[in-house]
Amino acid sequence: MYLFLLFSLLIYYGLKSAAGKGKQWDPVRRKMVDVGLNLYQQKMSVKRTVDELLFTGYSDDMLDMARAMPLFGKDVEVPFDRFGWFYTRNGSADLTGVFNVYTGQQDIKKLGQMFSWNYKRHLGFFESYCGFANGSAGEFQPPNLTPKSIVKLFTPDMCRTIPLDYKETQIAEGIKGYKYAGGHRSIDNGSLYPENKCFCGGNCVPSGVMNISSCRFGSPVFMSYPHFYQADDFYLNQVEGLQPEADKHEFYMVLEPKTGISLEVAARFQVNMLVEPIRGISLYENIPRVFFPMIWFEQKVRITPDLAKNLKTLPYVLLGGQIIAGLLFLIGLILLCWYPIKYVWSTHKIQEIKVYPAENGKAINSKQSELKILETEKKTPDSSPLLEKNSQLKPAITPKSPKRDTDANDVNHK
Ligand SMILES: *[C@@H]1O[C@H](CO)[C@@H](O)[C@H](O)[C@H]1NC(C)=O
Ligand SMILES: *[C@@H]1O[C@H](CO)[C@@H](O)[C@H](O)[C@H]1NC(C)=O
Ligand SMILES: *[C@@H]1O[C@H](CO)[C@@H](O)[C@H](O)[C@H]1NC(C)=O
Ligand SMILES: *[C@@H]1O[C@H](CO)[C@@H](O)[C@H](O)[C@H]1NC(C)=O
Repeated sequence: MYLFLLFSLLIYYGLKSAAGKGKQWDPVRRKMVDVGLNLYQQKMSVKRTVDELLFTGYSDDMLDMARAMPLFGKDVEVPFDRFGWFYTRNGSADLTGVFNVYTGQQDIKKLGQMFSWNYKRHLGFFESYCGFANGSAGEFQPPNLTPKSIVKLFTPDMCRTIPLDYKETQIAEGIKGYKYAGGHRSIDNGSLYPENKCFCGGNCVPSGVMNISSCRFGSPVFMSYPHFYQADDFYLNQVEGLQPEADKHEFYMVLEPKTGISLEVAARFQVNMLVEPIRGISLYENIPRVFFPMIWFEQKVRITPDLAKNLKTLPYVLLGGQIIAGLLFLIGLILLCWYPIKYVWSTHKIQEIKVYPAENGKAINSKQSELKILETEKKTPDSSPLLEKNSQLKPAITPKSPKRDTDANDVNHK
């Protein structure tokens, strides 16, 4: 998986912004969270080093408390002891689950496409057809792409498929490629693409973010493109300092159209938390409702010049293969037709010969000539030199005379 070894747990926020859940909790539990937050002097923001925030993680009193006491019951599971966006992801191989993908043996278009994830075809994070594990698992894209194709990527960290639309044709390392980019089709709330409605999770918000809370232990996590690229202005207006730019913030893949091989990939996402006022939890009482940008990241991969060189020869190899296949087919066809052609040709010759001779100065009528031709045809196989040879060989099968045997014995005894 070269794509998306994304952020890890967000349970911390499930706790801290005991948000979506806090709202449904009974007053007693809400009070306990409130006391806990005050007791540990939790603030809305934390200051940590980049390493702690990313890989090493940091321990937090709230996390420890939640682990020590099953205070929140089953509502909040705490699978990790520290918080870090990529905590436990350093050097990990299989944290994103079991992928079952098509080999493309029966339909090359399905090569590398998802069949199931963690043994499930419908994952249950989104309703109806939105919940299927569709699209490519990341490595292979279907061959023979056209500008009309939609490239679909299954993204395990978001439990859903991201569709990319054709944007333009580009040259990467001297190879022509089609650029497929993330745009409205992926982040629309159903106003432009009605089929997106089932990704809303009940309440649609302005276009530009993807609600993945069902995939993140119920924490109010919303994914967008960095700097809310291509999103409704609503999101830019609620925060300061963001400036979306296609060059820096677009999510795209440049694919070689014949083979579907990736020439260049820029996987870019931004993680946002929905922070809302929660009655009864003082830390959250006087805050605005904001889709707050937490972190954005990119993974950029480009084909190496060496690989590109190999890829450049591929069309010629394919063309060569086609030419050779064509030639072989032609030869096969000629060989296949050789006997019938020869046969027809030879009968034709016989016909020529047989038609001309005349009996008593008259040309023979067609019926007679046909009969004669049929006769010659019948004769032809029997009179073939091979069969004649065989008939000459026939005497060899005749049993040996006992006399000759004794002769031979005599010779041996001598
Ligand atoms: C990640 O793993 C590598 C190799 O195991 C190690 O050298 C590196 O220190 C680790 N980084 C962090 C931040 O844990
Ligand atoms: C996913 O694939 C299933 C069939 O395997 C299809 O019915 C469904 O519409 C697809 N969903 C999306 C979002 O493309
Ligand atoms: C996000 O999705 C969850 C369930 O998947 C839903 O309960 C919640 O209301 C949605 N949030 C918003 C703001 O749409
Ligand atoms: C969906 O998105 C459009 C465009 O951003 C917005 O005008 C509309 O209000 C949104 N719908 C809902 C239900 O939020």
